[in-house]
Amino acid sequence: MASVSQAQRLCHFRVYHSPVLAETAIEWLVTRADGRYLDGTVGGGGHLAVLLDVLEEGAEILAIDRDPEALKETAGRIGDGKRVVLRQGPFADLARFTEEEGMLPLDGILLDLGVSSFQLDEPERGFTYRADAPLDMRMDPDLPMTAADLIADESEEELGRILREYGEVRDARGLARRIVKTRMEAPLERSGDLRRVVEAGTPPHRHMKVLSQVFQALRIAVNDELGQLEQALAGSIDVLRPGGRLVVIAYHSLEDRIVKEFFRMQAGACTCPPGFPVCACGAEALVEVLTRKAVKVSQEEISRNPRARSARLRVAERLARERAE
Ligand SMILES: C[S@@+](CC[C@H](N)C(=O)[O-])C[C@H]1O[C@@H](n2cnc3c(N)ncnc32)[C@H](O)[C@@H]1O
Repeated sequence: MASVSQAQRLCHFRVYHSPVLAETAIEWLVTRADGRYLDGTVGGGGHLAVLLDVLEEGAEILAIDRDPEALKETAGRIGDGKRVVLRQGPFADLARFTEEEGMLPLDGILLDLGVSSFQLDEPERGFTYRADAPLDMRMDPDLPMTAADLIADESEEELGRILREYGEVRDARGLARRIVKTRMEAPLERSGDLRRVVEAGTPPHRHMKVLSQVFQALRIAVNDELGQLEQALAGSIDVLRPGGRLVVIAYHSLEDRIVKEFFRMQAGACTCPPGFPVCACGAEALVEVLTRKAVKVSQEEISRNPRARSARLRVAERLARERAE
């Protein structure tokens, strides 16, 4: 049962974002109550609140988010006797942030990928098709390219790829063609402009589904979400102490596939071509994968928070072996 302070905190954070698999993620993450942890996607601090409740005096947390609005929300929520350092920036740079803050080695890293409900629900951020607003979609306002820029500048082929790969849009080529045709007459600068193009070529009963797919695809591209994840994973193992854990919650099948494959390789999967008589690739296990299958969200949590339904949580633990030079 949640303590009074935990219940109060969760109540506050629900307004900003309901943390997904919160207790489960923190149970997997924490191996030492006075250890050092990195929350790479602190958002409104929902997971951070649960983490602070289980950690003891002397614990340290480095909390990162690329969205300055999220950090404003989290600032000031510092646990008694525990040090919380906030850094604005991309989690791709987590190894650098950890070193700069003198937090090496870490006992655990948490990545809760994607966007927060706060970001989705703020119309002026442009993440949603439900309101007419500038097509921005940048998590970090200093990123060079908005969704409107991407729509204006990318080739029809590249737009088609983005819509197909990141949004699984069925008629990605057709939609890319319609976007390019429309932008020759007038730029698509607002979510309403894009919504009209999508709806014009989609049967009404599929409007919501296709709009969600299209907006998700553009968001992933604008924020280079898959590239960020790959870079963060690549830097994560070396900053963990032996026995330290990496916990990742993914909401998109492409992200989950990247995490699963990274864990498989770090666990020593051989990459020799099939049929090689002896292993020559020098594969070495640096982690043990603790979740044979991804942990999913319960029906009870989904009914409370439908946005949690696609979440997949995976955990790997750093082994004592050093990386071969
Ligand atoms: C699903 S929300 C996390 C919510 C948080 N765990 C909570 O309980 O409030 C994802 C957060 O990660 C941030 N984010 C996404 N990609 C990021 C990246 N590459 N670097 C840093 N932060 C990122 C977003 O800005 C957002 O605030």
